[in-house]
Amino acid sequence: MAFGVAGGAPTPHQRGMADVTLADVREWDKRDVVLPLRGAFALPDGVIYLDGNSLGPLPRAALARMEEVVGREWGVGLIRSWDEAGWMEAPARVGGKIARLVGAGADEVIVADSTSVNLFKMLGAALALRPGRVKVLTEDGSFPTDRHVAEGVVRLLPGVRVVAVAAEALVESLDDETAVLLLCHVHFRSGARHDMAALTAAAHRAGALTVWDLSHSAGAVLVDLNGSGADMAVGCGYKFLNGGPGAPAFLYVARGLQAEARSPLQGWIGHAAPFGFSDLFEPAEGVLRFLTGTPAVLGLAALEAGVDVFAGVDLGAVWEKSARLFKLFASRVGAGCPWLELVTPRDAGMRGSQIAFRCAGAAEVMRGLIGRGVIGDFRPPDVLRFGLTPLFTLFEDVWVAAEALRSEAGSGGDDVVLPLVGR
Ligand SMILES: Cc1ncc(COP(=O)(O)O)c(C=O)c1O
Repeated sequence: MAFGVAGGAPTPHQRGMADVTLADVREWDKRDVVLPLRGAFALPDGVIYLDGNSLGPLPRAALARMEEVVGREWGVGLIRSWDEAGWMEAPARVGGKIARLVGAGADEVIVADSTSVNLFKMLGAALALRPGRVKVLTEDGSFPTDRHVAEGVVRLLPGVRVVAVAAEALVESLDDETAVLLLCHVHFRSGARHDMAALTAAAHRAGALTVWDLSHSAGAVLVDLNGSGADMAVGCGYKFLNGGPGAPAFLYVARGLQAEARSPLQGWIGHAAPFGFSDLFEPAEGVLRFLTGTPAVLGLAALEAGVDVFAGVDLGAVWEKSARLFKLFASRVGAGCPWLELVTPRDAGMRGSQIAFRCAGAAEVMRGLIGRGVIGDFRPPDVLRFGLTPLFTLFEDVWVAAEALRSEAGSGGDDVVLPLVGR
């Protein structure tokens, strides 16, 4: 799939991204095969939204779906909707759709609870599968909830501890004490991506299991849980999956582990026969045993609308566009503001779908950008973070955002070029 101009004169890519003009990027947008999906989102006028890695925008279908699930299924169907509207199957049904996006089988993924709660379930299950091992190995400076949950789990297990090391020291820190390697696939701040297959193989060589947090990869980066041999995973529903604020999360348990893995948070919905109302817990078959309580039907309905946007979408094309958006942003900012330090790896194979710069006065710069309608994130102490969501982000968006950043960060970028309103 080509985003550049086919044949003839040298393309802007060939000339070098730093020289690209607004006319060039508008041409790319016209030829972008992913762009038609932008129409699936209700994006507000006057805003360039580069924060879909924090909270995905509203899928148009979610509005209609919410009206249906609230008005008809709840309002009219009442309790009958648990069966008649497929509420009970929603965690497995939506999980099965997410499975395609993360390289897993439909029977290996469910939607439930929050990412933090699912981390607890995965870590508890993984530790129980490695009795006698006393170490949960994780990366220092990773997203805090992963570490917090791990520390909470090990408090319940005397002798077990969390060890956090720098990314470069992970492999050498795997040893015969390690029960679990817990990692965020893509780093929330820098956007650096771990090599899932290599680290999973290293963990397995040490006899440990892996738990991957896919919050910043699912729906944007090519993820191959099965191909990597990953054991367990979790991820957010409200970021690149566009499930809405506080959307339920997903979890993955490799098929080969499902029979022996047990949730430490077992509840009646994870029972083999919830409506048998048995006093004794008997886990459901497969990954369903990792359900705990009543499914969050409204949240699941919105998430399903978000995930359905991906139906039939070529994820390779999505990722290829992400790489081009990154290249454009990096070179435009690099040319105008060489003093901004790019903290995201340039190598596409080593990063997620975001770009981050270290910048003096980053909080102030981001406030200025948001004032101009360019919405990204500030991450303390000094990082500007921009999510690149190929489903709806225009090359023009990135070009204009880079121009605005050049201006805000002090290079005197072109102030007049903010053609935001009315798109
Ligand atoms: C890597 C990662 N894990 C987990 C979470 C959040 O988990 P929860 O949905 O439980 O708040 C985030 C939120 O930004 C995140 O970036």
